[in-house]
Amino acid sequence: MGVLGLGRMGAALAGALLGAGHDVSVWNRSPLKAGPLLDRGARLAATPSEAAAADVVISCLSTYESQQPVLDAASLRGRTLVNLTSGTPEQARGAAKWAASEGVDYVDGVIMAVPQGIGTPGARILYSGSETAFAARRDVLEVLGEPVFLGEDAGMAALYDLALLGMMWSAMGGYLHALALVGSEGVTPAEFTPMALDWLSSVGGFLAGIGAQVASGDYETDVSALDINAAGLAMLVETSRAQGIGTEVPATLRALFDRAVAAGHGAHAIASVIEEIR
Ligand SMILES: NC(=O)c1ccc[n+]([C@@H]2O[C@H](COP(=O)([O-])OP(=O)(O)OC[C@H]3O[C@@H](n4cnc5c(N)ncnc54)[C@H](OP(=O)(O)O)[C@@H]3O)[C@@H](O)[C@H]2O)c1
Repeated sequence: MGVLGLGRMGAALAGALLGAGHDVSVWNRSPLKAGPLLDRGARLAATPSEAAAADVVISCLSTYESQQPVLDAASLRGRTLVNLTSGTPEQARGAAKWAASEGVDYVDGVIMAVPQGIGTPGARILYSGSETAFAARRDVLEVLGEPVFLGEDAGMAALYDLALLGMMWSAMGGYLHALALVGSEGVTPAEFTPMALDWLSSVGGFLAGIGAQVASGDYETDVSALDINAAGLAMLVETSRAQGIGTEVPATLRALFDRAVAAGHGAHAIASVIEEIR
């Protein structure tokens, strides 16, 4: 195995492969970072092409921009490239096109874990691109985390990545806003967080129902209509202002919900907001 890039994530990937007994050759722009891996049996490649002597090469650099010169230098013809550098779907498709023109089997991947989780049961990595190459090297990929294949369109893993991260950022933004709001009356994060955790898990329970409504386009509800949720958001924005904290997080959603109400979805379920997002 060859690993290009030994930042936080690349080093964790190489470490998991070593832990599973693989022969691992590593390259990094700053070779000193390889030290701990060399102690565990990795071989230091002096150039990207030396690391790419392996039949499977995993690349994990900061960005596609920083990665491309490294891939160009790696001479990957005839190899399988597993690209775990985060990017946009268009960047992934571009890389797949480049790989095809170079005679490289291409699998794109996105890591839904932090470096400390790599190689542990909770880690999941989403892949798209060459199904043949994915299936042939699934055994290796399983060492890094649960591999999930999303199809031959190389951009799909990146699309899922951004969709899931978007949910994470929204939830974190909502949590931080909540901490600021209750904090304005002296409530500490330690006091509030257990209730927030319970609440997030209840909210998670709504997702399947919302998804089913989006899939069917039937937004009828006997649970909670959009207009009362829009009114609630207005109260949240007003109260945030009154408590002297920022309103950016709820104000964006409020504008969206208000637009959906104005478009005639007031009596519909929250799922109907997707019509405005689209
Ligand atoms: N960390 C996470 O929790 C996490 C989670 C999911 C996905 N990812 C993704 O994994 C990728 C790597 O993240 P990371 O956390 O490992 O980042 P990092 O610790 O900052 O490491 C960045 C890596 O890219 C290399 N690099 C940067 N610019 C370069 C250039 N111009 N030429 C050659 N090498 C260059 C660095 O080399 P030097 O050591 O020489 O600087 C280093 O190996 C990113 O795409 C990130 O989005 C990370």
